[in-house]
Amino acid sequence: MYFKLKISPSLLAADFGCLADAALEVEAAGAETLHVDFMDGHYVPNIAFGLDLIPALKKRVKIPLVSHLMISNAEERLDDFIKTGTDYIIVQEEAVTDLNEILKKIRSNGIKTGFAICPDRPLKEVYSGLNNIDYLIVLGVFPGFGGQKFIEDTLFKIKEARDFMTKNELTFDIAVDGGVTLNTAGKIVKAGANELIAGTAIYGAGDIKKAVQDFLALG
Ligand code: DX5
Ligand code: ZN
Repeated sequence: MYFKLKISPSLLAADFGCLADAALEVEAAGAETLHVDFMDGHYVPNIAFGLDLIPALKKRVKIPLVSHLMISNAEERLDDFIKTGTDYIIVQEEAVTDLNEILKKIRSNGIKTGFAICPDRPLKEVYSGLNNIDYLIVLGVFPGFGGQKFIEDTLFKIKEARDFMTKNELTFDIAVDGGVTLNTAGKIVKAGANELIAGTAIYGAGDIKKAVQDFLALG
């Protein structure tokens, strides 16, 4: 491996009764970013978090917050997300009308950006978007819920993204979200991911700090 492996715990699997403490715990353990899922009960059949969580976390947490928007109307709600102070805004590529336009708008506000791609979507349809991102999320599961099994077919897409990035001399993080465990992480990293987003495997572990460090040790 020729890059530093980064770990991004997903707050969706944390104890909702103490979210800031859950964020601080993984920050202290060496997490690079914190993954915050927004679900609207429409784009996905689940509802998670509200906008006010971001400024509340920003008061206490230093690592960058990655807002993953699993919502149907990202364009309409974009200004609200920009105002939260989030460090990254990641949209679902197939859920927006004009992918490149929204990515550029996010960047023009000084916020890092990127898109997430579902297991059944071909990357080649959004190659042009790869020129405008800081962060790609290859979804290893269909979005909506934590604790699902990693879909092995998505490994080829990770490799495709890495090859595209190298060939076109681009620089963005390739993160994988969904089904990332200590068992699946090895092949995910081998395929070309440099950031692992993990919810259940970190917050569901008995020792959260050790779980982060076990992931980091794979790098
Ligand atoms: C899935 C979410 C993920 C989720 C991952 O829809 O986008 O961020 O928290 O959970 P695990 O790691 O449990 O698969
Ligand atoms: Zn996510």
